[in-house]
Amino acid sequence: MPRTLAISGASGLVGQALQDHLRGRGDEFRPLVRGTQPGPNEIPWKPGEAVEARHWEGVDALVHLAGENIASGRWNASRKERLWKSRVEATRALCEGLAAAPRRPRVLVCASAIGIYGDRGDEVLRETSAPGEGFLAELAQAWESACDPARAVGIRVVHLRFGIILSKDGGALAKMLTPFRFGVGGRVGSGHQYWSWVSLHDVVRAIEFAIERDDLHGPVNVVSPTCPTNRQFTEALGRALGRPTVLPLPAFAAKLALGSEMAEGLLLASARVEPQALLESGFQFEHPTLAQAFGAILE
Ligand SMILES: NC(=O)c1ccc[n+]([C@@H]2O[C@H](COP(=O)([O-])OP(=O)(O)OC[C@H]3O[C@@H](n4cnc5c(N)ncnc54)[C@H](OP(=O)(O)O)[C@@H]3O)[C@@H](O)[C@H]2O)c1
Repeated sequence: MPRTLAISGASGLVGQALQDHLRGRGDEFRPLVRGTQPGPNEIPWKPGEAVEARHWEGVDALVHLAGENIASGRWNASRKERLWKSRVEATRALCEGLAAAPRRPRVLVCASAIGIYGDRGDEVLRETSAPGEGFLAELAQAWESACDPARAVGIRVVHLRFGIILSKDGGALAKMLTPFRFGVGGRVGSGHQYWSWVSLHDVVRAIEFAIERDDLHGPVNVVSPTCPTNRQFTEALGRALGRPTVLPLPAFAAKLALGSEMAEGLLLASARVEPQALLESGFQFEHPTLAQAFGAILE
């Protein structure tokens, strides 16, 4: 049955792909729009404030993806504040508004990140694993807790903890493609750190699954079932492109380029994450291996 879905962060990598994927099924989208004059099907939203209750009328699900981009600039104090406010404060105010509305969506699917686990070596991380340390871990924990007002009034809340989302249209892979195509790509640091990834195609399928499956709630790891080290990831990308991968990026150079905290959080941290909740619920990945994902993405 066609549904009405509100979506924040609709112009982003995941938001665009989700709309492309679900529009074909007859679903109607109501994007939350910031700062521009809303169109007829759009919902005006000022992050940090509640949405007017009347806009939730007839909305079946809210997919909340919005947040200042994590990787687009160095993590100085003002940027970290924007990353925090645009997720934690914006989500809390949104959820307080939802909780106070007379009619509200029955499910909130909220983005989160495997950064919640921090840097954990070769420990296998499942949804029940304790959170880790560092800025991203604290940010993701606070972001998930900010949904409490919605949970408290009985909205089913699913926190999709995304791994590195692979697409040629944006995100980490799009940034890596140019150096790898020129044959100057290589492992980052020791290359022993685990990189949990998922294809954008499986991300939008997992969001659809989370909307549909009434028994799914709480944290859900959205990562492929095969987790490579950075070295294995690098070799698989080189093979897919038919290019050598002999030029490593030393840890100190990554830290110089991005700053220590950001390089450690995004490139050097090891997170060996398993999609236990998705697999136990019967979700089937269409791109379970890197070879399949790269084959589909780079064809
Ligand atoms: N891509 C990944 O590998 C990855 C991994 C883990 C977690 N995630 C999380 O998943 C979510 C979706 O990812 P994505 O790759 O689609 O992100 P994205 O491309 O950066 O898009 C995020 C969207 O959020 C909105 N936004 C930007 N700045 C904002 C601000 N200051 N306040 C409120 N909204 C703002 C924008 O949409 P509008 O202009 O339409 O409002 C933007 O297009 C994000 O929250 C991200 O942190 C992504």
